Amino acid sequence: MAAEGDHDHFVGGDELRQRLWQELTRATVDRHHAWRTPALATTGLDGLAQVRTVVLREVRQAQAELLIYTDARSPKVAELLAQPVASLLCWSSRLSWQLRVQLRFAVLQNDEEANAAWERVRQSPSANDYLAARAPGSALAVAHEALLDTPQIAVLRGHVIAMDWLELARAGHRRARLDEQRVEWLVP
Ligand SMILES: Cc1cc2nc3c(=O)[nH]c(=O)nc-3n(C[C@H](O)[C@H](O)[C@H](O)COP(=O)(O)O)c2cc1C
Repeated sequence: MAAEGDHDHFVGGDELRQRLWQELTRATVDRHHAWRTPALATTGLDGLAQVRTVVLREVRQAQAELLIYTDARSPKVAELLAQPVASLLCWSSRLSWQLRVQLRFAVLQNDEEANAAWERVRQSPSANDYLAARAPGSALAVAHEALLDTPQIAVLRGHVIAMDWLELARAGHRRARLDEQRVEWLVP
């Protein structure tokens, strides 16, 4: 299995934890890393599940934080303000790893975090996403509306509560639950 290059053999929970944070961090800088675009699942205001793809923008391992940028007017922001606990789902076929992450989110707007996020994206093609005249999901009125002067950017800062890791391997699947204190090996 190691010869295939994809599956490494960490033994202890601490090593697994370290490897997971390493992959999450890589995903923020490697455009081809599958974990760069996880699915974010929230509870809709109607109580139904809502899930969408997002970009993992920053990882702060020391604080156990994952950061996502979004339009402050998007429905997911209202959903996270109403119910701040949400999940991220990551799957990498290269690693054969699924990672389910439960997080408690803070929504940051008009503050240093939001300003820093804007500085990071303002020169990128996604800058206009935050300057659209209308909120994401609202009906298009005219095809080309003028852009706003002020970016409607919000930072979703998620503090990791727990992670559920699943590795698919021919020799046997492995699964573990990690919270802040410990790593528990589970039946896959
Ligand atoms: C590859 C990909 C990456 C995306 N990244 C983001 C992102 O980082 N932030 C974001 O708000 N929406 C992102 N979106 C759009 C969301 O999936 C979603 O359509 C939009 O944010 C509206 O979601 P909401 O109505 O649930 O708030 C991305 C979509 C795709 C396909």
